[in-house]
Amino acid sequence: MAKMEVKTSLLDDMIGVGDMVLLEPLNEDSFINNLKKRFDHNEVYTYIGSVVISINPYRSLPIYTPEKVEEYRNRNFYELSPHIFALSDEAYRSLRDQDKDQCILITGESGAGKTEASKLVMSYVAAVCGKGAEVNQVKEQLLQSNPVLEAFGNAKTVRNDNSSRFGKYMDIEFDFKGDPLGGVISNYLLEKSRVVKQPRGERNFHIFYQILSGASEEFLCKLKLERDFSRYNYLGLDSAKVNGVDDASNFRTVRNAMQIVGFMDHETQSVFEVVAAVLKLGNIEFKPESRANGLDESKIKDKNELKEICELTGIDQSVLERAFSFRTVEAKQEKVSTTLNVAQAYYARDALAKNLYSRLFSWLVTRINESIKAQTKVRKKVMGVLDIYGFEIFENADNSFEQFIINYCNEKLQQIFIELTLKEEQEEYIREGIEWTNIEYFNNAIICDLIENNQTGILAMLDEECLRPGTVTDDTFLEKLNQVCATHQHFESRMSKCSRFLNDTSLPHSCFRIQHYAGKVMYQVEGFVDKNNDLLYRDLSQAMWKANHSLIKALFPEGNPAKINLKRPPTAGSQFKASVATLMKNLQTKNPNYIRCIKPNDKKAAHIFNDALVCHQIRYLGLLENVRVRRAGYAFRQAYEPCLERYKMLCKQTWPHWRGPARAGVEVLFDELGIPEEEFSFGRSKIFIRNPRTLFKLEDLRKQRLEDLATLIEKIYRGWKCRTRFLLMKKSQIVIASWVRRYAQQKRYQKIKSSAIIVQSYIRGWKARKLLRELKHLKRCNEAATIIAAYWHGTQVRREYRKFFRANAGRKIYEFTLQRLMQKYFLEMKKKMPSLSPIDKNWPARPYLFLDSTHKELKRIFHLWRCKKYRDQFTDQQKLIYEEKLEASELFKDKKALYPASVGQPFQGAYLEISENPKYKKLKDAVDEKIIIAEVVNKINRANGKATSRIFLLTKNNVLLADQKNGTIKSEVPLGDVTKVSMSSQNDGFFAVHLKEGSEAATKGDFLLSSDHLIEMATKLYRTTLSQTKQKLNIEISDEFLVQFKQDKVCVKFIQGSQKNGNIPTCKRKNNRLLEVAVP
Ligand SMILES: Nc1ncnc2c1ncn2[C@@H]1O[C@H](COP(=O)(O)OP(=O)(O)O)[C@@H](O)[C@H]1O
Ligand SMILES: [Mg+2]
Repeated sequence: MAKMEVKTSLLDDMIGVGDMVLLEPLNEDSFINNLKKRFDHNEVYTYIGSVVISINPYRSLPIYTPEKVEEYRNRNFYELSPHIFALSDEAYRSLRDQDKDQCILITGESGAGKTEASKLVMSYVAAVCGKGAEVNQVKEQLLQSNPVLEAFGNAKTVRNDNSSRFGKYMDIEFDFKGDPLGGVISNYLLEKSRVVKQPRGERNFHIFYQILSGASEEFLCKLKLERDFSRYNYLGLDSAKVNGVDDASNFRTVRNAMQIVGFMDHETQSVFEVVAAVLKLGNIEFKPESRANGLDESKIKDKNELKEICELTGIDQSVLERAFSFRTVEAKQEKVSTTLNVAQAYYARDALAKNLYSRLFSWLVTRINESIKAQTKVRKKVMGVLDIYGFEIFENADNSFEQFIINYCNEKLQQIFIELTLKEEQEEYIREGIEWTNIEYFNNAIICDLIENNQTGILAMLDEECLRPGTVTDDTFLEKLNQVCATHQHFESRMSKCSRFLNDTSLPHSCFRIQHYAGKVMYQVEGFVDKNNDLLYRDLSQAMWKANHSLIKALFPEGNPAKINLKRPPTAGSQFKASVATLMKNLQTKNPNYIRCIKPNDKKAAHIFNDALVCHQIRYLGLLENVRVRRAGYAFRQAYEPCLERYKMLCKQTWPHWRGPARAGVEVLFDELGIPEEEFSFGRSKIFIRNPRTLFKLEDLRKQRLEDLATLIEKIYRGWKCRTRFLLMKKSQIVIASWVRRYAQQKRYQKIKSSAIIVQSYIRGWKARKLLRELKHLKRCNEAATIIAAYWHGTQVRREYRKFFRANAGRKIYEFTLQRLMQKYFLEMKKKMPSLSPIDKNWPARPYLFLDSTHKELKRIFHLWRCKKYRDQFTDQQKLIYEEKLEASELFKDKKALYPASVGQPFQGAYLEISENPKYKKLKDAVDEKIIIAEVVNKINRANGKATSRIFLLTKNNVLLADQKNGTIKSEVPLGDVTKVSMSSQNDGFFAVHLKEGSEAATKGDFLLSSDHLIEMATKLYRTTLSQTKQKLNIEISDEFLVQFKQDKVCVKFIQGSQKNGNIPTCKRKNNRLLEVAVP
């Protein structure tokens, strides 16, 4: 281990004596000198047995580090030099291991270091108890409740810059393992008078200064505050700044702590709004205003502040304003409204501020409790830490009701200390029949009685006075005190006639003095009645209840008109008395641990040890008596049964079971252990051990023995565990081995098997191949023999047949082959024959070159044949038509552009029904021959090129032109006179019929006609002429030809015309010699 020296006793390196019990000689001087010597060497803690005396060092000492925590952790109380951690450790372990609820009672004057001590205890316990996320959160919340409560409940006083102005008792709850589960805080009577007025040199509660210094501009603006202490009447100006205190950074700490403890943002906001409202209340001022009835009524001077308060808290301004001017008194169902004068208005204002603040404080405690409440229902172990305001004495009779209450509380604590350490202890010795010399000490029960006696106690009388009808003042209260308490030893007053103190000028008339255990305190009676009454006008509480601010509303439940309660609320004094009584009862059920704080000087300065001041504290704390009792008595006692149970393992006879009475067992045990006679005593039910060291020796032996026992158990257990493990392993080993073997054998077998198969297959293969080779050889031999035989036969046969063979074989084979090929060719041709359509051009490809001409010929024959087949289908009439069409084709194909269009048109010949139409009867009668063509044509007038319709008739011998209307024959030309027909090569129907010169018809000249069936007419004209005259009619196709007109020859010229007249060619006479036909 790295630790160089390990202390095993507090006697090691001791400065003075660490435990006053060891002090020799024991008197006040040596006691103080010992403390002083230790204080000068930075040893601020000293023991009296298990009580820790702590002297405030007023500077930070390096004795609270985590290393120190580790050092004190799990060590015996007397092993190391005295320390608050040792006490904390003892208490915690006793709680955890022995299941004893603990309380830590910290007492001392204001500024003696109680609050610091309580925080040290809490932080030590937090450091050593369980860890883990959940536990850490609980711890953190418990620890962080301190800064919040300190900000709201602490203030700078002349004695202490961070004086607690409330009493605090905190129960920390643990589970069976010693892990913290949560806590409960109780608070006792906040000194609320401080809100409105502070003694000289003191400050209001920290939070006011913290807000003004630490809040952001924005936040201040929201709270309608200004960053200026002097603006607020409630802030005592003379000591607004405290040396070494950074209000601004503390503000941040507080806000952070509130967040950790679990305050919601809106809750924090509400809390600060209330604080701001309280601060601003102090700025409301009143002025008198005369009323008709001669009384003064108070009015608010400047309503701005009131308005802002109302905006901040959501209170109706008029309601609050009225509450400051009127007071409603309710008596016997009657409501009487009276006006308030200025003094009353101020009183009401301050009462409201005080109430708001103190209720806010109580709310904070409740709210924190909600957060830190233990979440489980399991049984809890409890460690209570009590840090209550210390004994307080102001000079100049400035002590008031608050000091009275505080000091009363301290009396009670002293009482419980006496009860538990001095009285109880001595009584126990007597009860147990242990030899004992009584030690004198001052019992302050009498003072407690003076204050709290139900009939004659000061508090009872104060209550009586407050409840009494009629005028009640502080003076009447004092009078009453004088009557009842005048004879009490600890009560002093000048008022009563027969007082012992009539001539004591140091005692003013308006005061009374109590001789507390810690000194005489003079109380100024002024304000006692008021403060005890703690009255808030109902109008104000109702105004508050009406606030549109959930927190403020909740703070004043009695303001709810539905819940009006005419019964007076309990007075402040009786409330306090009751809560102190509960506290005392609670403390008595727990194992007490004392820390007695001592203040070394009045200057809050380090290094100064004021002997007189310390002496005074030691006296009234009864510390010397404490040592004496301790020394005369026994450090430790325990009932026989638990003692035997605890140590029985140290002796063979008692271990593991002792049969017989416990006391006898313990006797045997101690005898066996050889503990000196003077070190212990046998009481009636308990064994008493004089010296702690004996106890530690016992504890060490026990620890050693436990270790041995543990080793033994461990040894046996390990042996058992190893053996079972071994057996298990052995069993497993056999199982594994058998499996492995089986597996190996299986593998081996499979390997052999597969090898055998391989070898076998090779052999079989080899055998089969051998057989195959032999068979192949045999087969080849057979084949060879056959071939040889065949050749031989062949040779023989050829030799025999050679004479037939040589002459014909070649040609025959050739012919046969040819025949075969031809056969194949024709068979294939049969399959591939094309269709019978004459226009089908397909013909299969030629298969052999030598069949080329045959193939072509066959194609031609086939074509002719299918044409013939095709023709054979025609009737005679069709044949005639085709003949005509053929003729037309021969005449015009590729010569006349009009031709292709005519191919598809059947030649009809008789387009006009001459025989049927009665119109043409005359014409029919005139023509007796068969009419070949009857059609309407246009005859072109040779003079101007205009067209006139004429009926064109072609008969066997003649061409006739007749009038279209009446059928009168205009001209008749025998076919023999027609010499030539001319036409253009273009797409027009013009044609000229040239006549034989000198013939009768020719006198009028040639005809220039135009017809829609030009091709048909020309063809038919040609055929008819041929058949009649056996001469071929000359058909001239030319774009320029001459036409005989009477005597003149006119040239008809065809030109490319415009499309102007559609598709109809136009004819125009250009001059004597030229007729121009424009063909589109
Ligand atoms: N153990 C300590 N170490 C250092 N300073 C201390 C210690 N105890 C108290 N003080 C100083 O004394 C001041 C008053 O202590 P506090 O515990 O508030 O007194 P009390 O609660 O008894 O009135 C503290 O603010 C701190 O400055
Ligand atoms: Mg304190």
